[in-house]
Amino acid sequence: MKNKKLLLVLAALVMAVLVYLGLSGQTKNNAEKPAKAGEKVSIGVLQFVTHESLDEIYRGIEAGLAEGGYQKDANLTIHFMNAEADQNQIQKMSEQLVADQNTALIGIATPAAQGLANATKDIPVIMGAVTDPLGANLVSDLKKPGGNITGVSDATPVADTVELIQAITPEAKTIGILYSSSEDNSLSQVNAFTEAAEKAGYKVVPYAVPSTNEINTTVAAMLPKVDVVWTPTDNTIASAFPAVISAAKEAQKPVYTSVETMVEQGGIASVTLSQFDLGVATGKMAASILDGADPSTTPVEIFSQGTIVVNQKVAKELGLTIPDSLLQKAATVIE
Ligand code: TRP
Repeated sequence: MKNKKLLLVLAALVMAVLVYLGLSGQTKNNAEKPAKAGEKVSIGVLQFVTHESLDEIYRGIEAGLAEGGYQKDANLTIHFMNAEADQNQIQKMSEQLVADQNTALIGIATPAAQGLANATKDIPVIMGAVTDPLGANLVSDLKKPGGNITGVSDATPVADTVELIQAITPEAKTIGILYSSSEDNSLSQVNAFTEAAEKAGYKVVPYAVPSTNEINTTVAAMLPKVDVVWTPTDNTIASAFPAVISAAKEAQKPVYTSVETMVEQGGIASVTLSQFDLGVATGKMAASILDGADPSTTPVEIFSQGTIVVNQKVAKELGLTIPDSLLQKAATVIE
């Protein structure tokens, strides 16, 4: 009888000790997770160059991170750097962001993502708006990237753009493509556009600029030889677009672009992807990677559905009529 009581007391004690150990073990585990509450994580962001689209993508990234639970200055530190299109700076800044022990890195535009990819094989790198991750040698498989890199891709809707050119400038026969030969993102768009335009019966002539310094001479050589101009989402051209537009205006040639802000600056029309939405998707993906998702198994998210933007003012200046059916389809008409 006495023994039984003693046994019960002992059993109760053992239970209490076990429960205590179990609970303390659990709290310890929780504390080791990259807990959101109270702690701050830091990420590095490298933007290739300043132009309106990349700035907009960056604003979207902050919004996407916040949606994913990472609020700048509250539980997130962002080390932001802009290489202003300088290859040496890309390398230096990438190395700096790696040395700063950031938990994840975001590269806005292809050359920035490539710089980060060269600087680390361990820290996750999220691509912000990289048009051709395969051609840029950043991933080997879009669905299963396999390494430390994944992200968001902006695939320019080239076939829709060719239809737009047909609708607004039905007389045009020759399309000149203005792009930079140093950007992997542009090469793939030039090929895809050329294929779609040639299928539609156009003569396509590519004009590659080796660097910003040659834009004016290339544009001057191109304009007399083409009926219309098209530019892909090319960072070099985007940064120097006002100069392109003023030359084209003088020569009375319409410039089709791949992004809304370049239509606002004087392009005639575009089928465009929302730059802000691209940024939001990039920020959300970064948040999920901070939560523990593995970049090697996180598929690249591809945006390819564009909306139509037309510039009625530029059309009038050039004496072109934008068909009513197109005006109705357009998401934005600039008057
Ligand atoms: N897609 C481009 C790249 O891969 C970056 C980019 C996004 C861009 N939006 C743009 C370039 C608009 C020019 C204009 O580098």
